[in-house]
Amino acid sequence: MLKITNLNQDFKEIKAQSRVIFVENLQIKHLDDCEILEELNFKESAYIQSSKTLYINVKTLSVDDLREASAKAIRAFKNLKFENVKFDVVGGEEEQYGILLGILCGAYSFDKYKSEKSSFALKEVFVCGVQEKLIEKANIIAQSIYLVRSLVNTIPNDATPAYLAEVAKQEALQAKIECKVLGVEELREEKMEALLAVARASSHKPCVIHLTYKHPNAKKRIVFVGKGLTYDSGGLSLKPADYMVTMKADKSGGCAVLGIILAIAKLGLEVEVHSVIGAVENMIGGNAYKPDDVLISREGKSIEVRNTDAEGRLVLADCLSYAQDLKPDYLIDLATLTGACVVGLGEYSSGIMGYNEELKSEMESLANQSGELMNKLHFNKHLKALIDSKIADVCNISSSRYGGAITAGLFLGEFIREEYKDKWLHLDIAGPAYVEREWDINSYGASGAGVRACVEFVIKKGK
Ligand code: BES
Ligand code: ZN
Ligand code: ZN
Repeated sequence: MLKITNLNQDFKEIKAQSRVIFVENLQIKHLDDCEILEELNFKESAYIQSSKTLYINVKTLSVDDLREASAKAIRAFKNLKFENVKFDVVGGEEEQYGILLGILCGAYSFDKYKSEKSSFALKEVFVCGVQEKLIEKANIIAQSIYLVRSLVNTIPNDATPAYLAEVAKQEALQAKIECKVLGVEELREEKMEALLAVARASSHKPCVIHLTYKHPNAKKRIVFVGKGLTYDSGGLSLKPADYMVTMKADKSGGCAVLGIILAIAKLGLEVEVHSVIGAVENMIGGNAYKPDDVLISREGKSIEVRNTDAEGRLVLADCLSYAQDLKPDYLIDLATLTGACVVGLGEYSSGIMGYNEELKSEMESLANQSGELMNKLHFNKHLKALIDSKIADVCNISSSRYGGAITAGLFLGEFIREEYKDKWLHLDIAGPAYVEREWDINSYGASGAGVRACVEFVIKKGK
């Protein structure tokens, strides 16, 4: 990761090999390089060789525009050979933090499978007048985002459930938090038969990873649950070839809840947090679970399986049951649950579902403040009726082709006990978790969706 160093000098006095300056809405008159920029017909960004300055235009000085522009500026340095740059950090705390995060996240690239590793000459970014605590927070959040992105980007042959467990254990050790891994035997004892059914045809054994962080002054207990499908082939309801590609990213929710708890531990927040990851691979084979099967979930509810590609909700049903035994004050699941959510909200936004309108709204605004896009989706009784089953307590797919994100959320809701209904939120991150192009502060592939929003949620609601 890039090193950000705060120098208590005026921007002009900082000695660096190069510099970045923001231009507000093409106002270049007051700039040293005004004439050259005019000649170049400056629009979005321009690097001026003579002054070693990269000018980046921002439409407004809003935190969202500044964050995105910072990521863009740093990416431009991939083609330049400077080892350090001084960065014109403008605005108040919120804007400054946004810029720092844009710098750090914009510098991410994934080259694990390239024989020639990307050589990024830039090592250090100098800023001035920025509080150390903002740099620390940005470093911690970016570190988590880097970990989540790299885990999600890792191919399914490498990133198996056992691999996720190993990484979680190592990271937990470093962050001094607890990590317990439940293997197949323990999952049987826990009666997680829905999760085990999904996992059955895979040669990679499933596990549930349970991480715990507990501050001695903790007043609230927040439990995160993540869908960790290391691969989703669809199972016997096999996905068409084009839709199967990118399904290594079906572990994004699980990876996100790992990143979230690590960030919270490193921030040292006065709260108790648990992350529960259902790490499973959904494959085909002679022993695969089938459409027509009926599964008995950990909560005791029976589930009619009509489509093995609606597997995430089966894994989550059992993990949510386990999570409620921890008696949370808030219970939040993150999952790449439905294509329907991507169709409804677009690729850049996550869906927020649950029974507590106020809590949903709070999450929505905290997420949006954090720079993540999230929108509420609303339950209703007519959609609920679509997951009724003739032969079991509930069916794993809806009888209609419409409203798939919400009917999936309603399915999860069936496994939330009455006393936790108002404490639960379901975040469908299927869109933004993995996008095959650069966008905002994210590079091609995994984004680390959910980390920023949920850390802000814990900062606010964990008190
Ligand atoms: N993992 C997928 C959802 C998904 C789709 C995530 C696209 C990211 C991008 C999930 O397990 C799935 O296959 N859902 C089905 C549900 C359907 C069978 C009711 C879907 O969305 O098509
Ligand atoms: Zn699926
Ligand atoms: Zn899936």
